[in-house]
Amino acid sequence: MLQLIVNENYHALSKKAAQIVAKQVQEKPTAAIGFATGSTPLGLYRELIQMYQRKEVSFDRITTFNLDEYVGLTKKHSQSYYHFMWENFFSKVDIKEHQIHFPDGVYEDADAACEKYERQLEEAGGVDLQILGIGANGHIGFNEPADTFTMTTHIVELAEQTIEANSRFFADKSEVPRKAITMGIGSIMKAKSILLLASDESKAEAIRDIFTGIVDPQIPASILQLHPNVMVLVNAEAASLLQP
Ligand code: GLP
Repeated sequence: MLQLIVNENYHALSKKAAQIVAKQVQEKPTAAIGFATGSTPLGLYRELIQMYQRKEVSFDRITTFNLDEYVGLTKKHSQSYYHFMWENFFSKVDIKEHQIHFPDGVYEDADAACEKYERQLEEAGGVDLQILGIGANGHIGFNEPADTFTMTTHIVELAEQTIEANSRFFADKSEVPRKAITMGIGSIMKAKSILLLASDESKAEAIRDIFTGIVDPQIPASILQLHPNVMVLVNAEAASLLQP
């Protein structure tokens, strides 16, 4: 079930999202939280850092799982998602390296790397709260539009639109990795609750498309309609194509 919450602006959306994440951690200090990268959750991370500084929340007992990583980028690479999370959130709160889980972007055996991540998710008892952004093409994590849903952690060829969108973080488009390792649709759907954030006009179509009632692997996020507990936090721009 999708619960839509329209916020006045990006700041309000980020604050609301932070309250939801903090509440989860306060209620279950050992919670497994699924984190997402991208520009959209940055405001959420800033709010959480402030709440931590005000001693309203502590993350020292949580387990973290990130959605995805570029293939070929090491943890230390300035554009790796590990580096992004470390710089923008983990290092600013009381999260230590041993609490962090990421799919390996650098591996010898792709299948083993994917299986390892699925095992880690399972051993943690699944994710309690999964934070998600959404691609303009409806992707979640790096699950790109396709003819079928891929259920478990897998290696994916990035869509041209995604490479284009993400090239803003690289010196040149040719530097954007062509592949990523991502949690699958099933891995995401196993989360007990999901918080999807969208805050830009470029996401309005994707947001409209997940409220149609139709589940279509060409719009990967449309699967969320089958999940029992999804909060969709948007601002007016991202909600602009939804019928009132
Ligand atoms: C990336 C990530 C996604 C993210 C999406 C949107 O490709 N793999 O997890 O949701 O982009 O990013 P942004 O929030 O910057 O628009």
